[in-house]
Amino acid sequence: MAEGFLWYAGIPFPTKFCKTEDIRAAHEQFVVKDKDIITVTYPRSGTNWMIEILCLILSKGDPEWIRSVPMWERCLSIESELGSKIIRDMKEGPRLLTSHLPFQLFPKSFLTSKAKVIYVLRNPKDVLVSRYYFICQSKFMKNPESLQQYDEWFIQGNVAYGSWFAHVLGWMSMRESKSVLVLSYEALKKDTRSTVEKICQFLGKKLEPEELDLVVENSSFQAMKENKMSNYSSMDRNYISANVEMIRKGMVGDWKNHLTVAQAEAFDKIFQEKMAGFPPELLPCD
Ligand code: A3P
Repeated sequence: MAEGFLWYAGIPFPTKFCKTEDIRAAHEQFVVKDKDIITVTYPRSGTNWMIEILCLILSKGDPEWIRSVPMWERCLSIESELGSKIIRDMKEGPRLLTSHLPFQLFPKSFLTSKAKVIYVLRNPKDVLVSRYYFICQSKFMKNPESLQQYDEWFIQGNVAYGSWFAHVLGWMSMRESKSVLVLSYEALKKDTRSTVEKICQFLGKKLEPEELDLVVENSSFQAMKENKMSNYSSMDRNYISANVEMIRKGMVGDWKNHLTVAQAEAFDKIFQEKMAGFPPELLPCD
């Protein structure tokens, strides 16, 4: 089991970013407003990419905002101490918010609001590899000894925000709701433009074709990697270590470069057991 966690409702959270009272406040007291747009993910599933896209949709593709204001000020985390304080003082929406909370700990007030959630999921084997590199680069918690060890922690759910399987199953239970749009990182990669159009439709935003082009262009992997306001290179080093690559490879199927055949097969077996009954086209694991 990795170190650097607090446990809340049976789920490990990173002590560096969350406190018990913040998670409880997020769940029980946080007031979601009708115009809120909330990106929800299991970590390393494409959170920052979605936030960049949403910022660009709101500014009709104009990159001025994303190039002048850091990502973490444009979109605040519901469950972080700092985020929740600033959110309380924000003016009427649309407020861009983000969360890694599992559905059962998400603000209760969401269910009686008209707010919109975009849930981004990603092939768990790519999430596993992406998280492994992120954790090894950051200094916030004890590093796993190897990818094999992290694989074991990940499958057991002994990692920050708990089990990928439980997180995805919880949020997938909301996929028929008009207030929740479930998207995959893979679909976003395969056809970014039409996925962005789908997001616009969900949010009731009408963009001109050239504005859509700008959203796609300014949220590309390369554009985000080069943008100091989006690549976290300008974030306070108390929160992120200098060598962390938030925007790392941006590939679909990078797990093939890291997991052995035996590791991948063992993972797939557990995936089949835990996700039985879900349409495979909704849950990428190839
Ligand atoms: P990799 O580590 O596989 O490269 P999150 O924002 O939830 O932490 O997710 C991080 C993952 O999204 C990283 O994956 C990162 O490189 C990828 N990512 C970030 N911006 C992206 C973009 N514009 N296009 C494709 N992938 C992107």
